[in-house]
Amino acid sequence: MSFVWGAATAAYQIEGAADEDGRVPSIWDTYSRTPGRVRDGDTGDVATDHYHRWAQDVETMSALGLDAYRFSIAWPRIHDQRGIDFYSRLVDALLERGIAPVATLYHWDLPQSLEDAGGWPARDTAYRFAEYAERIGAALGDRVHTWTTLNEPWCSAFLGYASGVHAPGRTEPAAALAAAHHLNLAHGLAARVLPGPVSVTLNLHHVRGDAEAARRVDAVANRVFLGPMLDGAYPADLLEDTAHITDWSFVRDGDEATIAAPLDVLGVNYYTPTLVRPWNGGTPRATADGHGDGTASPWVGCDDVEFVRQPGPYTEMGWSIDPTGLTDLLLRLHRDHPDTPLMITENGAAFDDQIDADGRIHDQRRIDYLRDHLAAVGRAMKAGADVRGYFVWSLLDNFEWAHGYSKRFGIVHVDYATQERTWKDSAHWYRDHIAGRPLG
Ligand code: FCB
Repeated sequence: MSFVWGAATAAYQIEGAADEDGRVPSIWDTYSRTPGRVRDGDTGDVATDHYHRWAQDVETMSALGLDAYRFSIAWPRIHDQRGIDFYSRLVDALLERGIAPVATLYHWDLPQSLEDAGGWPARDTAYRFAEYAERIGAALGDRVHTWTTLNEPWCSAFLGYASGVHAPGRTEPAAALAAAHHLNLAHGLAARVLPGPVSVTLNLHHVRGDAEAARRVDAVANRVFLGPMLDGAYPADLLEDTAHITDWSFVRDGDEATIAAPLDVLGVNYYTPTLVRPWNGGTPRATADGHGDGTASPWVGCDDVEFVRQPGPYTEMGWSIDPTGLTDLLLRLHRDHPDTPLMITENGAAFDDQIDADGRIHDQRRIDYLRDHLAAVGRAMKAGADVRGYFVWSLLDNFEWAHGYSKRFGIVHVDYATQERTWKDSAHWYRDHIAGRPLG
């Protein structure tokens, strides 16, 4: 298949309809309804109302000329046949318009009942995930083009259970490492029961700076997943770096072989590189690279590492804009895992978009961001990286987790008062870019 052009979303960020059709509560319902967790008290209760406006949104995708649409299935919905039917209708509508469905099973919305039973630090959660995968796999079957087990398990494990800036908001470093392992196990178990091509999406960190500091961060950000998934084992240096936190006894015989299930494509999410240096004990130390308030760090086992703010320009998230990190990351993956095809499953930028007097959103900085990052993908491909596609984050403005609705990543603007959708200039640009098929 030629290069795939797509756009991405996630269930909790766009669907709304939190209490409809038998959907049960998830950890993000609980977290966002807890005062002080999400900015302005925003929740995903209504979001972009995609659960009701999905047909209109599919028309938008069709008008953009997308080859594929990456969405996530809400685990809290599939307890009820009406929830399964929603995704079945969505998949059929996509196929009717020639848009390949790329379905993620877990984009962070763990059913609250499973968190109450221990959450990802509990091994049983991995088996419950495999049951869910089997159920939805049987329902949607071969109509899905690619199945993605997990989105960014680093965030689930380390933002959810170490720094606590994501749901469920726990700050227990040892539990975060157990969560990482059980997410890996969940991936491996699910990969074996899904009926079609399988992928996983990682937010791999392209780490620059002092070699020893970078090695430590690379271990707990990247190789904690890449190791067991692609090489069948956890890296020895990761186990050493974290030995004072846990003895890793939650890894049982055979787990690593289970996790190393065949992978058809590796999804890569990239926004910005990471810059580190050794921490010399001075205070205050930047702990979190934008991933926390500095009180609890997601960087388990990296106590002697400092995260350095990088030079601008920045997006509205405060993330430095640097497409060279994407080229370097893709080439590193190509070098370390030459037989694994790659897919950019998220890339994009938040800016403070304004609707101008002419009714349009002139988001030139987003166009520049996308164009420059696509050029970076092109450079990596020229140098040999096997990149199969690109999904812009995001189709629509949406609920940006702890930032609520204050950060707009969409190429299509959403007025949250009326739910009106308006194409930004970047959407027009992306349609024209796709039509020209320059990387194809
Ligand atoms: C990624 C998430 C996605 C979105 C973007 C901005 O970490 O996968 O849901 O929030 O960041």
